[in-house]
Order: sequence, then structure tokens, then C-alpha cells
Amino acid sequence: MKGIILAGGLGTRLHPLTKATNKHLLPVGTEPMLYHPIKQLTAAGIHDILVVTSTLHMGDIVRCLGSGDEFNCHLAYCVQETAGGIAHALALAERFCGGERLCVLLGDNVFEYCIEPYVKAYSAQSSGARVLLKQVGDPERFGVAALDEHQIIDIEEKPSQPKSAYAVIGLYLYDETVFEIIRGITPSVRGELEITAVNNVYIQRQQLQYSFCRGRWTDAGTFDSLFEANRILLENRNELLI
Ligand code: DAU
Repeated sequence: MKGIILAGGLGTRLHPLTKATNKHLLPVGTEPMLYHPIKQLTAAGIHDILVVTSTLHMGDIVRCLGSGDEFNCHLAYCVQETAGGIAHALALAERFCGGERLCVLLGDNVFEYCIEPYVKAYSAQSSGARVLLKQVGDPERFGVAALDEHQIIDIEEKPSQPKSAYAVIGLYLYDETVFEIIRGITPSVRGELEITAVNNVYIQRQQLQYSFCRGRWTDAGTFDSLFEANRILLENRNELLI
């Protein structure tokens, strides 16, 4: 399985912190934010990892992460020329994946516990995709899952009237058909290729499974959530709980 870390985007919600640097290089706990998804992937046994980011800060990101030797993995890099959305960034990973399955992490998501159990659950799945759900107090900020007693029946991106409190968070496990799915979706009203549109295609194909996220989780894209990300990682000295 290949690992993909998405670290593009503009980080405008964190201005002025992100005026001169990339959001994913900001400190979280004792380390730059991007160390966290790399540690998560390697702890889950994934050592071949692609980092996607913008042209603007690619140099700084390579300077920060290097070849991957420090993390016991191999790092490759890819430029997303415009911030066209999460699915747009993911599309750039097709050649790197070479038909293998992939584990995608959003570079600004922090998981208190190791993600390995979800990766294992996906490995036991014969096909399709798997997403991670977390109950949150502010679902309107996220992709939100509508569930029946067995499965996810729909996901809505940033709904004004959320159908549940379950956010679909930034760990996505996909088979190789994800790239054909991305080619079939169109930009949302905010002009982005949404990962939620991709996940909804898997739902229509009855191929979307899910796990619930253990422990604390947050994104780090706003001042409040960046503070929470710092709290989680600092308390654990940037170690992943097993
Ligand atoms: O954090 C989980 C949420 O992330 C999900 O619940 C949502 O469904 C998903 O759309 C996303 O929502 P955000 O609006 O918070 O995503 P944001 O634009 O902050 O991007 C998240 C990460 O994706 C960020 O760390 C950088 C990367 N990204 C984003 C864009 C728009 C890229 O690599 N390229 C991009 O063009």
C-alpha cells in the first residue's frame, strides 16, 4: 500500500501565521506538523510515501523532510500547481500509486492513536474504500455522514443542517479505481474537486466501509483547532498511542 500526504492548499484561515510559510510546517507539539502523518504511515507499515504540496513552499518542505531516511521511509514529492481541492491533489498521485491501494492522510489532521487498525481493516476488505468517522461538536465544518443502521448512505460537505454529528475525517483508504472516479467528478460551488464527491461515488457503488476513530482527533486548519492539535501532541510528546 502507498501513502499519500496532502499538504497543498492556501492555509488562509491561519493568516498571518501562513503568510510566509506553509500551514503544514507550523509547529504542533514538539515537531513540524508534517512529521505527524509521516509517523502515522510508517507506524502502520507504509514506507513508500508521496507528499503533495504547492510550488510556493515545496523547497521548504523538502528541506524539512528530506529523503525520508530520518523517518525510515522513502519520500517522493509532487507539485499541485493550483489549490483545486483535495481530490484534485489526490489525482496527481496516480502514477506514483501504479495500481496499488492507497492510504491518504490530510496533512493537517492529528490522530491521537496510531491509524494501523484502520489500515489493517482495509487490507482485509476485498475492494472499495474505507473512511473514518468521528463525532464532533461542530459538524458543519466538515464532510458529514448520514448513516442508517448498517452503512453510510450519504456524505454532505459542510452542511448548514448536518444530518448527524459524525464527521468524515482526513484518513481515506482507496483502491485503484479512485483515480477513474476523480476523473468523473466536477468542481463544487466553491470551485474545488471535493473528496466528499469521491466518497459519494463509492457509496453509490455500495463499496464504502467505515471505522470509528479512537481517542482524540482534530484538524489544525483554524486557530482553535491548531491549539487543540498542539494540546494533543504536546501531552503525548508527539508519540502515537497504540
Ligand atoms: O479535516 C477533515 C475535513 O477536511 C473533511 O471532513 C472534509 O470533508 C474535507 O473537505 C476537508 O475539509 P477542509 O475544508 O477543512 O479542508 P482544507 O481545505 O483545510 O484541506 C485539508 C487538507 O488538504 C490540507 O491540509 C491541505 C490539503 N489540500 C487542500 C486543498 C484545498 C491540498 O493538498 N490541496 C488542496 O487544493
